[in-house]
Amino acid sequence: MERKLIDRFGRQHDYLRISVTDKCNLRCVYCMPEEGMTFEPDEKLLRFEEIAEVVRVLAGLGVRKLRLTGGEPMVRRDLEKLVAMLAAIPGIEDIALTTNGIFLAPKAEQLRAAGLTRVNISLDSLHADRFRLITRGGDIRKVLDSIAAAERVGLDPIKINVVLMKGMNDDEIADFLRLTLERKLHVRFIEYMPIGHDDEGWKARYLPLSTVLERCAELGWDAQPAEAVYGNGPARNYRIAGAPGAFGLIHPVSDHFCETCNRLRLTADGNIKPCLYWSDEFNVRRYIGDDRAVEELFFRALDIKPQNHEMAQALASAAQSHTPTARRMSQIGG
Ligand code: GTP
Ligand code: 5AD
Ligand code: SF4
Repeated sequence: MERKLIDRFGRQHDYLRISVTDKCNLRCVYCMPEEGMTFEPDEKLLRFEEIAEVVRVLAGLGVRKLRLTGGEPMVRRDLEKLVAMLAAIPGIEDIALTTNGIFLAPKAEQLRAAGLTRVNISLDSLHADRFRLITRGGDIRKVLDSIAAAERVGLDPIKINVVLMKGMNDDEIADFLRLTLERKLHVRFIEYMPIGHDDEGWKARYLPLSTVLERCAELGWDAQPAEAVYGNGPARNYRIAGAPGAFGLIHPVSDHFCETCNRLRLTADGNIKPCLYWSDEFNVRRYIGDDRAVEELFFRALDIKPQNHEMAQALASAAQSHTPTARRMSQIGG
């Protein structure tokens, strides 16, 4: 019988998030500092063949869903080749991409043809000037073009990720909700997580997502829970009556969803991360080619996977159980 990736708490893992690079063409304020980042040299990154080998082993253990992340995954050359390699692995049913959307439009067709099923695109403001500030230089037109291209080539569903930040974009909640009334887009509001940056700065910007439902009620829009949005992640979904689109809330801080965690992470430099938040890692690279050893390393990672994170601690550094990860969000892929 097939062995399954079940941890000490009975959680079954069928979803792998693969970071293909730690580099990014943007510098979003919640993710990276403006200057001074150092990146992994190319030879430290897993090659596409190595990633596909790991996925092939995991498909034999019940992994069915993949997500490519970064940094920005599209800065990795020929990403469509990796998608095609992954799509050819028996058992893989869903290959999604989380991207900032700057480079997607010209490649959407090729990626779709290679076997990409869907995209999640980050867009934290609908105003060009503010978008440039939050991303430290991004051109919103490219992102809007990419959303249109994704619609055109049939990537579905298309999700828009909005990290909510007090005093930065919380005045745009209504505009993002309105987008779901106009188009078949799935907007997800995400709580700002205290990962990879100083905790005090985080606290000043953090806003719980109850704010979104309150705003919706103030606007007189009737939002009902909606189950119909395809996804493997932690969003809780809603639809405003009559809207073609929907919206979702991802609230890791105020109401964590660790009990139903179904995912493992692979970093660009070949480390298995059993939990986004904690520092535990296992480097799989040296075992690639020995399927048994790769399997055993994943089981070891699962054996120590913590029950939950402690992001709700006032200060992440005060967390009790382990050491919070020293990686930045861009080095994990969210
Ligand atoms: P689908 O539901 O399959 O579309 O994917 P997703 O929402 O999990 O993927 P995406 O990359 O768009 O992530 C959206 C947000 O959820 C990001 O801010 C991620 O960091 C966050 N997220 C995803 N998985 C976890 C998790 O296990 N723990 C925490 N705390 N946050 C997560
Ligand atoms: N808190 C919440 N979400 C974050 N992301 C990046 N950094 C953070 C953070 N500190 C989101 C990005 C992207 C996804 C991969 O993770 O906006 O949509
Ligand atoms: Fe780049 Fe994504 Fe981080 Fe923004 S959130 S800096 S787009 S990796």
